Amino acid sequence: MQLKIGLIGLGRIGKIHYNNIRQQIPEAEVVAVSDVSNDYSQCDVAGIDADELIAHSGIDAVVICSPTDTHASYIEQCARAGKHVFCEKPLDLSLARIKETLKVVQECGIKLMLGFNRRFDPNFLKIKALVTDGKIGEPQLVKITSRDPAPPSLDYLKSSGGLFLDMTIHDFDMARYIMGKEVKQVYAAAAVLTGGAVAEAGDIDTAIITLKFGDGSMAVIDNSRKAVYGYDQRLEVFGSEGMANVDNNKPDNHVFYHAGGVQSSLPLHFFMERYTASYLMEMRLFVQAILEGKEIPVDGMDGLKAVMIANAATKSYKENRPVFIEEIEV
Ligand SMILES: NC(=O)c1ccc[n+]([C@@H]2O[C@H](COP(=O)([O-])OP(=O)(O)OC[C@H]3O[C@@H](n4cnc5c(N)ncnc54)[C@H](O)[C@@H]3O)[C@@H](O)[C@H]2O)c1
Repeated sequence: MQLKIGLIGLGRIGKIHYNNIRQQIPEAEVVAVSDVSNDYSQCDVAGIDADELIAHSGIDAVVICSPTDTHASYIEQCARAGKHVFCEKPLDLSLARIKETLKVVQECGIKLMLGFNRRFDPNFLKIKALVTDGKIGEPQLVKITSRDPAPPSLDYLKSSGGLFLDMTIHDFDMARYIMGKEVKQVYAAAAVLTGGAVAEAGDIDTAIITLKFGDGSMAVIDNSRKAVYGYDQRLEVFGSEGMANVDNNKPDNHVFYHAGGVQSSLPLHFFMERYTASYLMEMRLFVQAILEGKEIPVDGMDGLKAVMIANAATKSYKENRPVFIEEIEV
């Protein structure tokens, strides 16, 4: 049996999922797509209105890749129409809205998966396996460096929810995932150092966030919206029995030694190049979960918890103090 999919939002991430399903997941088929721009020039399938797509009797599941502020209403609409959903992160910007949406999802009995793709990066999967197998002992510290090559457009920034909800949300999820523990306390320091669109949108672009887990173990995340050398994605986990880390992926591994120094290639430029394997794997797992009745690997509660940590980070930054997760109203 083939899973029939409708895809909403054909921007940067929508195109990745569209091409992956069409070219690399034979167990699924994209039946229709929808984008408010009505630009379907890069698609081979029908472009239709989103309401029509969600109501389509020939569609079993919907992949939502439209801007963040549309996610909750599309998920609810899909749930009521009995369609399973894969939705890009974050679930929504409001915790109250997320709660409402998850209630609808539960009542309608559909499956919902969140696009925390980094969990499925082959490098981070190795680290996760080392932690789970106890090879690092008791994990005590996680360090995540997550820097973009350049800030997004002003339009994107305006509906993104800001740095913590849009970008650091991946790192919050990764910290929870690698440690296998829940965050209890958050402290965030942040600034606007790149100016430009970020300043115009009233957002921040640089941050250091420390997370404390219930058993005293910690994570530190550093973010920037502008790393001039490309996408900087590194992770280290340190524990009672050892340490493991992941450096940046590069297009090639050559190293050139000469009298002036030592040179190698820059990191893969951005998420489209760096996380190729993870986007494919998460979509394969979504399709399998539905076709084979398997568990969804990243669910609505993971989406909610990441937003709670993001809200705690915002509160911490604004009030310049550590914030307990319990202080965040759900
Ligand atoms: N998992 C990841 O690594 C990752 C990476 C990038 C973006 N995202 C998330 O994916 C979402 C989209 O981001 P993007 O970078 O692709 O944005 P984008 O601006 O490149 O694309 C968004 C697309 O949605 C369309 N659109 C706008 N409003 C719509 C609506 N109401 N209904 C249908 N289509 C609509 C736009 O015309 C555009 O084509 C965001 O929520 C973002 O947080 C996730």
